[in-house]
Amino acid sequence: MNSEQSAKIETVLQEERVFEPSESVLNRYSIKGFEKYKQMFDFAKSDPDKFWGEAALRELHWFKPFHSVLDWSDPPFAKWFDGGKTNVSYNCLDRHVKEGRGSKIAIIWEGEPGEIRRISYEELFVEVCRTANALKKLGISKGDLVALYMPMVPEAAIAMLACARIGAPHSVVFGGFSSEALRDRLNDGQAKAVITADGGFRKDKIIALKEAVDRALANESCPSVKSVLVVRRTNQNISFYPDRDIWWHELIPSQSANCPPEEMESEDRLFVLYTSGSTGKPKGVVHTTAGYNLWAHLTFKWIFDVGEEEIYWCTADVGWITGHSYIVYGPLSNGVTTVMYEGVPRPSNPGAFWDLIQRHKINIFYTAPTAIRAFMKAGRSIPDMYDLSSLRLLGTVGEPINPEAWIWYKEVIGHDNCPIVDTWWQTETGGIMISPLPGATPTKPGSATLPLPGIEADVINSDGQSVEANQGGYLVIKRPWPGMMRTVHGNPQRFRENYWEYLSPIKGEHVYFAGDGARRDNDGYFWIMGRVDDVINVSGHRLGTMEIESALVSHKAVAEAAVVGRPDEIKGESIVAFVSLDSDKEASKGLLEELKAHVSNEIGSIARPQEIRFTNALPKTRSGKIMRRLLRSLAAGEEVKGDTSTLEDKNVLDQLRT
Ligand code: WT7
Repeated sequence: MNSEQSAKIETVLQEERVFEPSESVLNRYSIKGFEKYKQMFDFAKSDPDKFWGEAALRELHWFKPFHSVLDWSDPPFAKWFDGGKTNVSYNCLDRHVKEGRGSKIAIIWEGEPGEIRRISYEELFVEVCRTANALKKLGISKGDLVALYMPMVPEAAIAMLACARIGAPHSVVFGGFSSEALRDRLNDGQAKAVITADGGFRKDKIIALKEAVDRALANESCPSVKSVLVVRRTNQNISFYPDRDIWWHELIPSQSANCPPEEMESEDRLFVLYTSGSTGKPKGVVHTTAGYNLWAHLTFKWIFDVGEEEIYWCTADVGWITGHSYIVYGPLSNGVTTVMYEGVPRPSNPGAFWDLIQRHKINIFYTAPTAIRAFMKAGRSIPDMYDLSSLRLLGTVGEPINPEAWIWYKEVIGHDNCPIVDTWWQTETGGIMISPLPGATPTKPGSATLPLPGIEADVINSDGQSVEANQGGYLVIKRPWPGMMRTVHGNPQRFRENYWEYLSPIKGEHVYFAGDGARRDNDGYFWIMGRVDDVINVSGHRLGTMEIESALVSHKAVAEAAVVGRPDEIKGESIVAFVSLDSDKEASKGLLEELKAHVSNEIGSIARPQEIRFTNALPKTRSGKIMRRLLRSLAAGEEVKGDTSTLEDKNVLDQLRT
């Protein structure tokens, strides 16, 4: 481990509180008591093929059963449930309808302006079939990639399931990304069609989604895209290109409601989802049919354990993996009622979430630490105005949660009678990996606790050895699991290098490197310390420093840029950029704002630096490497500690302090 990385995992947490599942909690959950978890864990460890094989047969519908559980003969390229045929939309829809649960509500959707739609499994099934037929009519066939660039409307879930039904992998691009970012993703994935909306409601603004699609496609810059399907949402004026564009409401309703599901091979692609890494452009994480479906299904069932009459809400956007696995696929595969909400809390409506919980009598609530910290800051008087007594389980995801926020969540939102599940996972893992099982695992504020059955997690040092209790190191997963990503779209070498060979001692060992630092305590509990690579996590959104640096350098005034994360009380981290200008350019307030806007344009407003500092030169080692550790300390306003003897030009330091 180099000094850069060790500095990030030195922090020792001083948290010793333990919360055992109470008697009433214990009785509520199917996985009851720690012994039960241990049993499952030990079974999965001693006979993984039997464990996963039985689970796959029990939990999913198969057109044709698989002949092998795991083929790991060509690591790191795994094949799960080889020979089997299934369909994710069948597992999410048809089987529930066939079991007589067609009238059960699948999605409760609430729009930002307040409208509500309740869509039953039967209705969702029909809409998905019509949309699937419409996609076929647009020339989409099995294997073609369809991009979605949508607001949080039911049509987003419908489109995902319609793609799954006909075997066309989807690639959802978060609606907050810019047209430039969209264009990169469309081209990398060679998308055949884009499904979008005229616009979307975000906070108090209307965002111009269709216009961004038009810009991304302008001048034939995405030649693979043949059609654009447009949902009417905001009614704003948009340009329409009749050869390419078609309204959802003009195409879908007239389609047949009969669309037999494509029988997909287990390893056929289900979706590609782009995420930031430490190098280069965002990479397309590939997930496949059966393994992903099983993992989203099982983890959802184990952790949230949603009852027939219960209502579950995850506040993520479908543009992120959390939305994929825990708004759409996990809940629907389990036949659960899932809430989809278009809005976000904002100053003009700070109680929006609590209002939703009260009105829909939500039982299970899953959100990000950033949101919790913001609510905490606004004060408990806001949630106290609402009836939150329907809640029975609270989850968090996306970033480390500080013990203070964890306790606040438990006391103020959960009224001390809801277990808290802090769930650690990633876009790459497909679903939750380390998390308490609420009826089984004693919790500790700030710890994601223990790996789920079948997951062999460890913390290792740079020599590849497991570290002792309470020592920091790299978080790794030592055995393949069904929900694991299969490759980086179009770049298998990057998959191998970034995840399986990142630390040279584990090369050839086929150990998955997560990119996070962690430590285990004396009870074996995992405490995630944050990224050890050049990825920063702003409000649970993952951004690569390199990506933001390239965006800055693409501006004509910029010579060089270095971007680091600075600890932020609410957002977890905020973005600070150090920029040196071309010698004929002058630093100014105007240029500073221009650069911030430039980054928003290139990537999206989530990547907009909070602060930009101009400097004549960046601190570099004699071999020319930017000293990020030093920049991180400077950005955080800390004294620059440690060894600066390799710094080439010591004067640079003074300049950077202000
Ligand atoms: C990174 C993955 C998982 C879906 C949302 C984010 C961080 C995620 C936790 C947690 C500490 C967490 C990690 C991870 N992270 N959950 N419970 N505790 N850190 O997915 O965008 O792929 O980001 O988010 O750093 O590597 P993602």
